[in-house]
Amino acid sequence: MYDGDIASTLVTEQAIREKTAELAAQIAADHSAERSGSGRDSDLLLVGVLKGAVMFMTDLARALPVPVQLEFMAVTSYGSGTSSSGVVRILKDLDRDIAGRDVLIVEDIIDSGLTLSWLLKNLESRQPASLSVCTLLRKPDAVTVDVPVKYVGFDIPNEFVVGYGLDYAERYRDLPFIGTLDPSVYA
Ligand code: XMP
Ligand code: MG
Repeated sequence: MYDGDIASTLVTEQAIREKTAELAAQIAADHSAERSGSGRDSDLLLVGVLKGAVMFMTDLARALPVPVQLEFMAVTSYGSGTSSSGVVRILKDLDRDIAGRDVLIVEDIIDSGLTLSWLLKNLESRQPASLSVCTLLRKPDAVTVDVPVKYVGFDIPNEFVVGYGLDYAERYRDLPFIGTLDPSVYA
């Protein structure tokens, strides 16, 4: 599949599976601990950011040993080219109110962190009981914009990656691993 397009594998299918199980155990433990103190009794609400987070979100949901509900948002960042501007527009909003809910934003990748920073402010204004973030991948630049990310799968180098939900021109999302793209693809 995609012969010659992938230059290298950065995160294998097995590594993704193992890390997802690890994150799921941690998230479930934290959620149970939080709930037992608060008297809240609602399922954890996963908010996935379309489309990149879909693969990770569905695997994470199945790995979580607690009931979860799924919601999706689609956002687009204004601005030119590949760098995000931090000005975000909602393409698809949540289907329901999140007031009083325990919400976990599920992201594929945090690059500059600008998109996430906007999303956190937006969702926080809807008054969830709690709001945290889980991302499969994080790039070094994310450290410069200080967004609180509780759960991180892998810190990766500052390279463009595809696979497992991540695309280049809508392709490669269906690869089961994370890889770097051969420069011949952009050429
Ligand atoms: P910021 O910079 O706001 O943007 O954190 C995060 C969004 O940018 C996209 N992005 C990538 N998509 N491979 C991709 O397929 C990458 O290496 C990559 N880096 C950033 C992605 O949509 C993410 O949600
Ligand atoms: Mg993309």
